[in-house]
Amino acid sequence: MAKAVDIGTSFIVGARLEDGNEVFTVERDAFFSMPREDLSEELITRAGANFLIRGNEIFVVGEDALKYCMITGRHEAYRRPMKMGVLNPGEEEAIPLIERLIEGIVGPADFPGEVIAATIPAAPLDTELDVTFHKIVLERFLKKLGYDVRILNEALAIIYAECPTVDDDGAQAPFSGIGISFGAGMTNLVVAWRAKKLFEISVARGGDWIDQRVSQVRNIPVGKVTHEKEKGLDLSKVDPKNPLHLGLEIFYEELIKHVLTEFATHFKSTQTTFSNPLDVVIAGGTASVPGFIDKFKEILEQQGAPVPIGNVTLGQDPLRTVAKGALVAAVSMEKKKLAKQAEAEREAAAQAAAAAKPAPKPAPKPDLDEIDIEAGV
Ligand SMILES: Nc1ncnc2c1ncn2[C@@H]1O[C@H](COP(=O)(O)OP(=O)(O)OP(=O)(O)O)[C@@H](O)[C@H]1O
Ligand SMILES: [Mg+2]
Repeated sequence: MAKAVDIGTSFIVGARLEDGNEVFTVERDAFFSMPREDLSEELITRAGANFLIRGNEIFVVGEDALKYCMITGRHEAYRRPMKMGVLNPGEEEAIPLIERLIEGIVGPADFPGEVIAATIPAAPLDTELDVTFHKIVLERFLKKLGYDVRILNEALAIIYAECPTVDDDGAQAPFSGIGISFGAGMTNLVVAWRAKKLFEISVARGGDWIDQRVSQVRNIPVGKVTHEKEKGLDLSKVDPKNPLHLGLEIFYEELIKHVLTEFATHFKSTQTTFSNPLDVVIAGGTASVPGFIDKFKEILEQQGAPVPIGNVTLGQDPLRTVAKGALVAAVSMEKKKLAKQAEAEREAAAQAAAAAKPAPKPAPKPDLDEIDIEAGV
C-alpha cells in the first residue's frame, strides 16, 4: 500500500503505513570505503554492518559508515553519494551506493505497480547542477524495484504533511501556503494553492554550506562544526564570546537572507498575487536547531516577502516532515489509481458481458397461413 522516500543529501527517509500508522526508516546517506583484505569482510559481517563489495574495495553504507569513520579516524574514506541535493558528480561510486541504500530502506514493491512518491529538489538558482540526471537515475532504479514512481518536489511535500490553509473569500483553501525545506545540501521553497505548486525555487545552500563556511572562517574541522551545531547550538541565546556559535549564527542568518532574497527576486516575475496572508511551514534538519523559527521571523520582518505572510511554523518532526508529506501524496495517488483501474475493469466487464450475449434470433418468417389473403391480380 503506497510508500514514500525522501532522498536527501544527508539522510534518506522511507515512509510507509503499517496498520494505519506511519512508519519511518532513516538512513545516513553516506559510505565508508576500505580495501578488501583477508579479514575485513568477515569482521564487518560479524559486526553486523551493511556493506557492499565492488572490485577490491568494501563499502560500509549508511549509519555504520559514520561509526567506521569515527573509530578509524580516516575521514577521507567517509564519502557521500549526494552533494548539494543531487547525485554527487565527483563521486564515481555514487549511483550503485545510493541504490543500495534506497533498496535497503524501501525494498522491492509489495506488488507490481505499487505507488512510491520520491522527492527531488527544484533546479537551484545559484549553481549549475543537473537535477534531471539525478531524477532519471533514481526514477529508473525505483521502477526496477517494481514501483510506479511519482516524483515530487520536497517543499511541496511539506505542504501535504502540514496542510496550511488560506482564507479564500470566506472559505478555507486547504494545502495552500509556503513550504520551505532547509536541508543539508539545499533549501527548497514552494508556494502552493489548493495542493498545486504555483512557484518553486531552490538554492544550493543548507546545513553543509553553513558547516563549511564556519569551518573555513574559524579554522575548525567541518565534523566538529557539524557536531557542535547539532548538539550545542541555540540560536535564541548565542554567546558572542563563543566564536564557533557566533560563526554558526552569522551563516544561519546569511542562509535565511539568501533564501528570502531569491524568493522576492524570482516571485516578482510571476503574475501571481495574493491578497490574504499565506502561512509558512518549515521543515528539514537545518531548521531543527532551537531558535530557528524566531530567527527566520526576525529576518522576514526586516526583509519582507513578495506575498503577505501569516504564521510561520516548524513541522512537527522536521527531519521526517518531507517523507510524511510524500506518503500522504503516494497514498492519495494510489487510491485514485486503484479507483480508476476498478472503473476500467468494470467497464471492460460490462463490454465483455454485452459481447457474450447470444445474437438475437432472426425474426421468424411470417406464416402465410396466419394471414388473410385474397387471390387476385
Ligand atoms: N538538531 C539539529 N540542529 C541543527 N542542524 C541539524 C540538526 N539535526 C540535523 N541537522 C542538520 O540538518 C541537515 C540534514 O537535514 P535534512 O535531513 O533535512 O537534509 P537532507 O534532506 O538530507 O538534505 P537535502 O534536502 O538538502 O538534500 C544536516 O546539515 C545536519 O547537520
Ligand atoms: Mg531534504
